[in-house]
Amino acid sequence: MGIQRVTVIGAGQMGSGIAQVAAQAGYRVQLHDLTEEQVEKGLAVISRNLSRQVEKGRFQQLEKEAILSRLDGATDLRKAAGEADIVVEAVVENMAVKADLFRQLDDVCPAHTILASNTSSLPITEIAAVTKRPEQVIGMHFMNPVPVMKLVEVIRGLATSDEVTQTVEALAKEMGKTPVEVNDFPGFVSNRILMPMINEAVYALYEGVAEKEAIDEVMKLGMNHPMGPLTLADFIGLDTCLSIMEILHEGFGDPKYRPCPLLRKYVKAGWLGRKTGRGFYVYE
Ligand code: NAI
Repeated sequence: MGIQRVTVIGAGQMGSGIAQVAAQAGYRVQLHDLTEEQVEKGLAVISRNLSRQVEKGRFQQLEKEAILSRLDGATDLRKAAGEADIVVEAVVENMAVKADLFRQLDDVCPAHTILASNTSSLPITEIAAVTKRPEQVIGMHFMNPVPVMKLVEVIRGLATSDEVTQTVEALAKEMGKTPVEVNDFPGFVSNRILMPMINEAVYALYEGVAEKEAIDEVMKLGMNHPMGPLTLADFIGLDTCLSIMEILHEGFGDPKYRPCPLLRKYVKAGWLGRKTGRGFYVYE
């Protein structure tokens, strides 16, 4: 199936990145969020990122303008998604919000539209079940920051068709990414392995095993990780980390996935990481 029009729902850190790489790959892109302000913020982030690429000599100014001309913003869902060949959803990691959105998308999108979710951990099969097109619902899990990271974890729900999987993998390649196909289990592969490690790092801090800098340094220098786990948690967003741990905990019913109380405390305090200026570390 040929994809020409891509709609991205949610203009936050992931949605704006996905919209950017789709427009860079030559697709017509609609970026949707709940308010004009959020949409404008997402478009401004893309414009700034592209300007940085121009400064580094990776793009010409004309190319930047061409990419931006393929991008539109809309707060009206019907306007944003009414002509989409594929919708990539990147709103908050909350099942009720995503289910409600997919119900609406199923209504406003043409019959052929593929509905993809960038969820980090929510079951694709359950999201698909609220629609009348479960075979066209799939996980398209980009990594953060989207313009830089190569991986797209492609998650097949129970009903996802082969044709839809192939189309999404081809789209990921067109966007310059490498798709890796996995099945639908809590946390998929990426967060089943990454998030318990981050949670364990928070426990190590909570139990006073070491200072935050020391924990990060051990993992950077000792395990060759480009970023320590607490720095990475701040980067991902502590609310997102907590949601993923809760989904693993509930999905497997295993206490080994119990979210660290310190992670909960930070989220309650509104210390969500980089995006709020403070998480385990303080950001200017
Ligand atoms: P974010 O908080 O930066 O952005 C979420 C955006 O969605 C906000 O702009 C919000 O206004 C908008 N939104 C909320 N409800 C909406 C609705 N009903 N309709 C339209 N827009 C709505 O969150 P972020 O980090 O971009 O995460 C988005 C999704 O991507 C989540 O499912 C998350 O699990 C996933 N993800 C996050 C990664 C990360 O490192 N932060 C990595 C990979 C996936």
